[in-house]
Amino acid sequence: MNKLKYNIAKAISAASKTIKGEELAIPVEDILGALEYPPDASMGDLAFPCFKLSRTFRMAPPMIAAKLKDAIETPEGVGEIRIVGGYLNIFIDDRYLSGKILAEIAEKGADFGAHDFGRGKTVVLDYSSPNVAKPFHIGHLGTTVIGHSLKLLHEYAGYHCIGINHLGDWGTQFGKLIVAYRKWGSREAIEQGGVDELVSLYVRINNEIKAEEEAGIRTLADASRAEFTKLEHGDEENLALWRWFKEISLAEYEKTYKQLGITFDSYNGEAFYTDKMPEQVQILKDKNLMKLDAGASIVDLSDYNMPPCLILKSDGSTLYPTRDIAAAVYRKRTYDFDKCIYVTSAGQSLHFAQWFKVMEIMGYDWADRLYHVPYGTVSIGGEKLATRTGNVILLRDLFATAIDKCRGIIEEKNPGIENKDETAEAVGVGAVIFYYLYGNRSRDINFIMDDALDFNGNTGPYAQYTYARTGSILEKAGSTGEALAVSGLTATERELIKTLSLFPDKTASAIEDMEPSIITRFAIDVCNAFNRFYQECPIATCEDESRRAFRLALTRGVHEILGRALELVCIKHPDKI
Ligand code: ARG
Repeated sequence: MNKLKYNIAKAISAASKTIKGEELAIPVEDILGALEYPPDASMGDLAFPCFKLSRTFRMAPPMIAAKLKDAIETPEGVGEIRIVGGYLNIFIDDRYLSGKILAEIAEKGADFGAHDFGRGKTVVLDYSSPNVAKPFHIGHLGTTVIGHSLKLLHEYAGYHCIGINHLGDWGTQFGKLIVAYRKWGSREAIEQGGVDELVSLYVRINNEIKAEEEAGIRTLADASRAEFTKLEHGDEENLALWRWFKEISLAEYEKTYKQLGITFDSYNGEAFYTDKMPEQVQILKDKNLMKLDAGASIVDLSDYNMPPCLILKSDGSTLYPTRDIAAAVYRKRTYDFDKCIYVTSAGQSLHFAQWFKVMEIMGYDWADRLYHVPYGTVSIGGEKLATRTGNVILLRDLFATAIDKCRGIIEEKNPGIENKDETAEAVGVGAVIFYYLYGNRSRDINFIMDDALDFNGNTGPYAQYTYARTGSILEKAGSTGEALAVSGLTATERELIKTLSLFPDKTASAIEDMEPSIITRFAIDVCNAFNRFYQECPIATCEDESRRAFRLALTRGVHEILGRALELVCIKHPDKI
């Protein structure tokens, strides 16, 4: 479609020279930007609005449209051009849609939406990044799936990608955990209970610290601080505990990552940057960028209408922004990235804006290659989910509920299916992800499980079901068809080819806007267009030989493109549901 669009733009540009001469000709780029996909097939497959040109040409838009139509040399693939109001409505020829556009889809298959604008460039993506020994809860769903989807999308465009899990594995919480473990914990209990046991120790010490505070005592708080300081100074015993806590937590996160099909290239968390911070602090000092404020060292950002960025606490210990600054410099040196992307909840937007600004005033001229990708909050509506740790909802409980429900639905609808457990897991987890990624990422979400699992809604199960259906049609037909040039296409055939043809545009905008929902929405468009076609047109049973081959090729196009679209948003697609 892109080639055709370009040829149309070139032809319109050439035609525009005949209106008021070369000088006032409309550049091809401007036409490309203005060409629209009309909402209704009766208005053509592409439309060129002439309204903005009336100033240039001092002419009414319908008049301009008429002149362009008269002068245009119709490019290959265009069947008809009609003038409606101030628009040129352009109709693509059936034989071009089937014999050229669908043929390209058939040839490229799942790679039809790929690009090469990322070749030779590296992107670092920092996502998921839970805090060790704290619950991995639904607030982390966004960073995990948006982050991984952005990684897959960038890879699809040729970028070399490094996915980093910037674990929250450093900070005073480890002092608290060490104290709590020595006081109330045991090796056996942690070995058995895993991260849940760590979390409950952590919850307990926080509650007790609070109670002490109310009574004006600070024993536990001081002890915790002291243990963290020992850890910072390399105390062997504390380091061993810290490593162990981290291992226990990681083992738990890995289970969730496995369900999601997510892997990381690096687990360098905050602790990794301990020895990399002094250099940056020194630069801040040398450049006179730090000020003392009640004992703490800060970078004043009032010129930029932001509160100060905290670099060192009054006791000299480092903070979250300090670690981010050191990490960015390390990543630039190690990977020489073209972009470094951070996916976190919108609650951290100020944090990122602050330290990005600090990088800029430190003189790192690549600071504009740091991107924060924020997302909205999640709440859970409808039904109560079991919570093990106070009032947060763990990701694994959310997935477990979805999987259980799916198993029930499969049991009822298709009890004979093989791999029941695997399918229930793919559909249940897929449903949660799809529901989450369906809306614009900055919107807040109210999660309703039954909506997410509705096979008739705009959901993951609906998309997976459509994928499985196309697969079984092809399997039964025993052929993947052939994209022959045919004429007399039905409205649903045309619509389906056109929908598929948009895949490259969609992947490019999803990367540009860092917005996976462009892909989930596209997947639903494909499903809807396919199901309309399927209801109206016999495929494998079509009597006309060439029409059958063409329809099978179209079905295969849907199968491959839908499959890839789902993969790009971290969703598995079983062959049968
Ligand atoms: N661990 C943090 C949290 O759970 C997220 C870290 C995001 N990445 C970063 N480089 N700051 O809130």
